[in-house]
Amino acid sequence: MPKNVFERAVKERVIFKDEAFLYPEFVPERLPHREKEIDALVFAFDPVLKGKRPQNVFLAGPTGCGKTAVAKFVLKELEEFTDRAKSVYINCFEYNSRHSVLSKITNFIGAPAPRRGIATDEIYSQFLDAMKRIDFTPIIVLDEVDQLVFSEDGSKLLYDILRVHEQEKTVLGLGLISNNSELTLLLDSRIRSSLTEERILFEGYTPEQLKDILFSRAQYAFASGALSEEVIGVAAANAARLGGDARVAIESLLKAGREAERENSEKVLLKHLKKAFESVDAVSLLKGLKHLNENEKLLLGEIAQADGITSGQVFEAFKKKSKSPLTERRLRDLLNGLEKRDFVSSEQLSLGNKGKTRKYHCRLPQKMVLKELSSN
Ligand SMILES: Nc1ncnc2c1ncn2[C@@H]1O[C@H](COP(=O)(O)OP(=O)(O)O)[C@@H](O)[C@H]1O
Ligand SMILES: [Mg+2]
Repeated sequence: MPKNVFERAVKERVIFKDEAFLYPEFVPERLPHREKEIDALVFAFDPVLKGKRPQNVFLAGPTGCGKTAVAKFVLKELEEFTDRAKSVYINCFEYNSRHSVLSKITNFIGAPAPRRGIATDEIYSQFLDAMKRIDFTPIIVLDEVDQLVFSEDGSKLLYDILRVHEQEKTVLGLGLISNNSELTLLLDSRIRSSLTEERILFEGYTPEQLKDILFSRAQYAFASGALSEEVIGVAAANAARLGGDARVAIESLLKAGREAERENSEKVLLKHLKKAFESVDAVSLLKGLKHLNENEKLLLGEIAQADGITSGQVFEAFKKKSKSPLTERRLRDLLNGLEKRDFVSSEQLSLGNKGKTRKYHCRLPQKMVLKELSSN
């Protein structure tokens, strides 16, 4: 009788001990190279322990630099340490309106509020009522808050939350997380002033830091001897090139491990990593698209459409389509930023006696980019 097709899969787990340690949703207990950021967040929330009002915080930095992981970690520690605070983590991709966020936080502090069928202002007054009755300080963290703040509805929500202090003699803590460190500058001045209490700016990881991070995760995920230091080093270097994104680094190890398993190899080899990286690369870049600001998206859209377009032509196209005039200097910076993050590549062109210019290409498949850009 032929062997069952699953037999090979379970035969012996030579590569992974437990690959779940590499899943994106896994919240690690240790976050190497984020000690400073963790301390800053602890400092902001610390007044809660004395029954005082915590500081509002703004966390910003590029994708994959550990903002979400740090926030979740500190909230977990806080809850374990004290009954005086309870936290709610909200991702604004999921909860993207004043109505849905207010329902969520009203529910969270103990007043059941249906998500639909009740006016938003009504939910807000229920929230304020419930705030008077609770004996803990709610800490509300809004992740990927860019989704919200540019709409009138979203600004109103932030204002609602911040206004709680003035009106009701009640306290809460608010944390906002964004990929855009300039986000607060774009906010309404009333909101801005109450949010600049504490800013924690994250930077992308260096190759050395990524190596430590990969070691700390791989230790639990891989069987001993299955993963060499060389492979970790290359994975770290690749991810550093893509902006120091730990998610890309970790994901590439997971995929490389699976590739090694598929080939029945006893070890993860560089060729497995290479294959993994090719797929992670495009996928993570595509995901990264939604974190671009409107101007960057417009520029990238033009470059993707043309495939091979000079900076001058990009600027022309931008001026025609954009509502906000930007200087060429600023546009050049934005283009450089897109190139640094590997969305585009460029080459220098000589224009004869008219000097030089740069010609830009999109690094991702045109169809995928245009589809993704038009959907968000
Ligand atoms: N210092 C670190 N140590 C271990 N894992 C990390 C560290 N920083 C980030 N990660 C992991 O990398 C991935 C991306 O981090 P995340 O916090 O989601 O980034 P961001 O929110 O800044 O985009 C997550 O899987 C996270 O667990
Ligand atoms: Mg995040």
